[in-house]
Amino acid sequence: MSEIKVVGVLGAGTMGNGIAHVFARGGFDVRLCEVEQRLLDRGIETIRKNLDREAAKGKITADEVAASLKRIQGTLDRQSLAACDFVVEAATEKFEIKSQLFAELDSILPKDVILASNTSSISITKLAAQTERPEQIIGMHFFNPVPVMKLVEVIRGLQTSQATYDTVKALAEKLDKTPVEVNDAPGFVSNRVLMPLLNEAMYAVMEGVATPEAVDEVFKLGMAHPMGPLTLADFIGLDVCLDIMRVLHDGLGDPKYRPCPLLIRMVDAGWLGRKSGRGFYQYE
Ligand code: CAA
Repeated sequence: MSEIKVVGVLGAGTMGNGIAHVFARGGFDVRLCEVEQRLLDRGIETIRKNLDREAAKGKITADEVAASLKRIQGTLDRQSLAACDFVVEAATEKFEIKSQLFAELDSILPKDVILASNTSSISITKLAAQTERPEQIIGMHFFNPVPVMKLVEVIRGLQTSQATYDTVKALAEKLDKTPVEVNDAPGFVSNRVLMPLLNEAMYAVMEGVATPEAVDEVFKLGMAHPMGPLTLADFIGLDVCLDIMRVLHDGLGDPKYRPCPLLIRMVDAGWLGRKSGRGFYQYE
């Protein structure tokens, strides 16, 4: 496969803009693709703010901020991704949305291009089955905030080729991240272990064992977690947490993965965490 210079990122939300940010910082040209101009503008504005934050801390120069921003080209036209050497999808965490996108991108992208998904829990093997290139489909799972977190979970679907794996591992290293190899299974490693912790913390609140503040204090002071589990759930997004719990529950079939009823109620109410202004805490 030829050298990767132009990277397509599908979705400019929390994860997508972070992914575009680190590829641009890594010297790649980025095509950042969204479905609405408003979402694209918001994503690029977030990248600008986060690059400025890195400059304010002295991690990069003002020239590097400008050069990184210049490397990012926003687009609403998925067809334009045909010019990319590698594409990573970071759209909404719903199988129907991602599977449609994979089928569409398969028809747009040149045959040798690798298509990765930043999915946090959806089967890579199932996404690969939507395409005619299952050997070139892989999981490239980043962590929020993407510019800060060192991990990339690299997930092999059943048919992912060794060449695809090697390319994505090398790409992650080029972004100054640490790739960890994981096989395709519900929630992979990160969310199979993390989400039940967050879900259990929600049960503790629902059952009146402790307040959200108290649960979070226990984990911050007792286990040295940078954020308590309920602050972290708000940070990730309660809708995302619920989607992942459902994938674990359906995929593993064990009642221990049952989503906490309080989580379901909060998502029904539109309390999605930090992004909606209210979750276990209020942010206005
Ligand atoms: N872009 C660039 N830099 C950022 C940033 C961003 N979006 N957010 C924070 N930073 C930088 C800050 O500038 C700061 O830099 P210095 O160390 O050089 O000072 C550093 O990160 C720490 O930030 P703050 O001082 O503002 O705040 P903090 O010490 O409270 O750290 C945090 C913030 C990094 C988010 C920390 O609380 C943390 O690590 N939280 C846990 C995050 C976590 O668990 N993420 C994984 C979520 S799960 C997931 O993403 C995957 C999934 O599938 C659901």
